[in-house]
Amino acid sequence: MWYPIARNLLFMLPPETAHSISMKGLQNAASIPFLKKVLTSQFQYQGRSLAKTCFGIQFPNPVGLGAGFDKNAAYLDELEMLGFGFVEIGTVTPKPQAGNAQPRLFRIPDQKALINRMGFNNEGLEIIAKRLKERKAKSNSNLIVGGNIGKNKVTENAYAWKDYCTNFIGLEEVVNYFVVNVSSPNTPGLRELQEKESLRKIFAELQNLNKNNKPILLKIAPDLETSALDDIIALTHEIKIDGLVASNTTIDRSLLSTMNQEKGKKIGAGGLSGQPLLDKSTEVLKYLHKGIADRIPIIASGGIFTGADAESKINAGASLVQIWTGFIYEGPMIVKNICKHLSALK
Ligand SMILES: Cc1cc2nc3c(=O)[nH]c(=O)nc-3n(C[C@H](O)[C@H](O)[C@H](O)COP(=O)(O)O)c2cc1C
Repeated sequence: MWYPIARNLLFMLPPETAHSISMKGLQNAASIPFLKKVLTSQFQYQGRSLAKTCFGIQFPNPVGLGAGFDKNAAYLDELEMLGFGFVEIGTVTPKPQAGNAQPRLFRIPDQKALINRMGFNNEGLEIIAKRLKERKAKSNSNLIVGGNIGKNKVTENAYAWKDYCTNFIGLEEVVNYFVVNVSSPNTPGLRELQEKESLRKIFAELQNLNKNNKPILLKIAPDLETSALDDIIALTHEIKIDGLVASNTTIDRSLLSTMNQEKGKKIGAGGLSGQPLLDKSTEVLKYLHKGIADRIPIIASGGIFTGADAESKINAGASLVQIWTGFIYEGPMIVKNICKHLSALK
């Protein structure tokens, strides 16, 4: 009821300012025990269990928060309070990065979309790993934490595998699963790493380090040609990839209305997310699921706003779903609403 009003106020601010004000506000509210209790009972889904085991991990519910929202793992307790079953932190890079120049995040409200060219802004592996270690030491949380990992902008693609390995070593103790991100459109040349040989090298090196069998997933772009999707399907037969995340943002502006394509041109480079991405990412998910069947799980990401959207992803082959842009437009009740819908399906 109140969120449309809050959203109108937040949308008067630049997107990144609105993001940090709302997360800091939530953090302050959650620091008061009484308010924390109220917020928990308001936002957390309390119905029949939706727990689900995927790649050997028990998820409290199948609704997660996509990478890039809590890049620095600063708000995990607050996000758990809002009912998320899992949160993917990052993208983390070995060295801290400022990301691209601002403004780099734009709203397209009439199509419930965002365009971003953040460029992996993050505090870097060392600080993020330390924060996660401290949280782990004092928390008895059930929240599943995924570590989405990437390469620094300055690292050449030929040495990218080393950045993925550095991140893996630094985060292994403190995350439940990893996602190799080679699909962001905002780091020059990164998407070239989706090519078969590069992926084979990155996964071979990571699995070599992976003595404790931590699940390692691959997050892909929705803009890949069918032949590239076939290569990824073939690779999952050849090398240990524990799951896929389908998908990241798209560079395809034809998903916008004619008027918004004009707006998109003015905004410039970046990845499009939100409602316009729903069908495109579901098509990719369906294609992958057909090729992989249920051999490895797929996490759906792209345009999920409602329980019906989440249901369509599950019907297309997803085991878990992640939201991001939907959280901005629908507000914090989104997780509970989706969980309620999924619970009614069972
Ligand atoms: C501002 C912003 C930053 C993002 N940063 C990352 C990131 O660092 N790593 C990543 O793998 N995905 C990132 N994403 C992509 C999301 O995790 C998600 O895959 C994508 O937005 C599609 O989901 P949605 O339509 O629900 O937003 C970002 C998305 C947005 C909007």
